[in-house]
Amino acid sequence: MAEQVEVLLSEEKINARIREIGEQISRDYAGKSVHLVCILKGGSFFMCELAKRITVPVSIDFMSVSSYGSSSESSGVIKIIKDLDEPLAGKHVLVIEDIVDTGKTLHYLLELLKDRGAADVKLCALLDKPDRRVVEIGADYTGFQIPDEFVVGYGMDYDQRYRNLPYIGVVKFD
Ligand code: IMP
Ligand code: MG
Repeated sequence: MAEQVEVLLSEEKINARIREIGEQISRDYAGKSVHLVCILKGGSFFMCELAKRITVPVSIDFMSVSSYGSSSESSGVIKIIKDLDEPLAGKHVLVIEDIVDTGKTLHYLLELLKDRGAADVKLCALLDKPDRRVVEIGADYTGFQIPDEFVVGYGMDYDQRYRNLPYIGVVKFD
């Protein structure tokens, strides 16, 4: 089956928006430092670009989680594949995620992180698919709201491919 990727958000558009979010975060966290928790693998490209645009002191850590059950349907119960290296106690934590879809993964994850004694835990997602939401969850910072289509690029994959695309696109099968 042949696939094509149609551009939804160009590299220029994404980078301009990330610059804006970086400025907003720098203002909101003025006088503090921010601890970025990147959710692997999808959030990694976004976090790198965003971290470069933040002017308050930044520290970073990584976590990898997977949803129990079938791979295409989010079950809401997550398994930690790779946990954080650093404790969260007293930190201003900002979770960096590629996309909020049903919201199940993040709902579970944010509760888990809040129990670890962070000063506060906020969420920054590059994309939001509000039509798909099952669990009420809102990001504190969102790059773009997109329609209910499966997207790839800028860290996001289809079967582990396309993460390296510098833009975000929709996979079309023909
Ligand atoms: P949910 O919010 O628990 O449904 O799951 C969110 C996760 O599913 C995201 O972090 C992505 O890894 C993955 N995901 C959801 N929608 C897409 C998409 O359109 N493209 C690629 N991955 C997606
Ligand atoms: Mg993800």
